[in-house]
Amino acid sequence: MKVLNKTRRQFLKNFSLASLSVGLLPTIAKGNGIAAESKATLNCNLTTPDYYGEGPFYTPNPPTIQNNLLVASTEPGVRLILSGQVRTLDCTELIHNAVIDVWHANDAGAYDNVGYNLRGITYSNNQGFYMFETILPGHYLNGANYRPSHIHLKITPPGFATLTTQLYFEGDQYIPIDAAASISSGQYDATHRIIPITMNTDGKYEGTWDIVVDGNGTVGMSDLHLEKGMIYSASPNPFSDSVNINYGVFHENVVSLWVFDLQGRTVAKLEEKSLKAEKYTATWQPDSNLPKGYYFIALKVNDIQVHYIKVLKH
Ligand SMILES: [Fe+2]
Repeated sequence: MKVLNKTRRQFLKNFSLASLSVGLLPTIAKGNGIAAESKATLNCNLTTPDYYGEGPFYTPNPPTIQNNLLVASTEPGVRLILSGQVRTLDCTELIHNAVIDVWHANDAGAYDNVGYNLRGITYSNNQGFYMFETILPGHYLNGANYRPSHIHLKITPPGFATLTTQLYFEGDQYIPIDAAASISSGQYDATHRIIPITMNTDGKYEGTWDIVVDGNGTVGMSDLHLEKGMIYSASPNPFSDSVNINYGVFHENVVSLWVFDLQGRTVAKLEEKSLKAEKYTATWQPDSNLPKGYYFIALKVNDIQVHYIKVLKH
């Protein structure tokens, strides 16, 4: 357990809250006034449709993505791992079994309009998580201009309407000149659909995108209260034998750390104890026969999941 001095801790807390506090708050209120007020600090941005809708290259009824891989090992391009959670409109609950229908261009900017290459369906699991690995889509000409790299998605929570949208990547030179990606207000606001991607030590890009849509949240599941605590980092990541999880607790509470696999099954419960507002480090050293692959580590405060991070076991 590592303890930082109060000034440093306060800085970390303020910094993280400041960076998380922007956002559109949907008008749907749940719970009491205090809970509703606390949600003002959530990074809860309703996922907007894309101005271009589904575009001209959608093919219905794609296959289900197998083993979280949208691409064959032979597909040219830089690998991209995209993951996140599907949440209800006020971000307080997680939606499982949402259909996530994905399609995008290949590295050369071309769509497969005959077959189903780079097209597939995945689902959010019983923790609301989704993840798939693909390649970073190439640029293609749309009239006189190139479109920024983008992934098309149709998201359908069980029993609710389909949201058709597109995801973009920070730093793409074509975003400012794109008629859809450059929209920064109103119903087609793309601001929160432009995500940062970082290259991991395996030479693959990784990006996190949480989807906020109308749907039935899982009963008794997660309220997300980022003002209660967060996971700052996991290192090393990817890891082989053990990984250190650095997290912060913002008020004294009963805190636990859980590890889930991609199917949403509980793999480990690392800690559960009453902790004061402070910054902590926990270590996960899984059994050596635990399969290699991705896992989600979730921070729960009073049994409420407040934050998560994805780690890769080599
Ligand atoms: Fe497209």
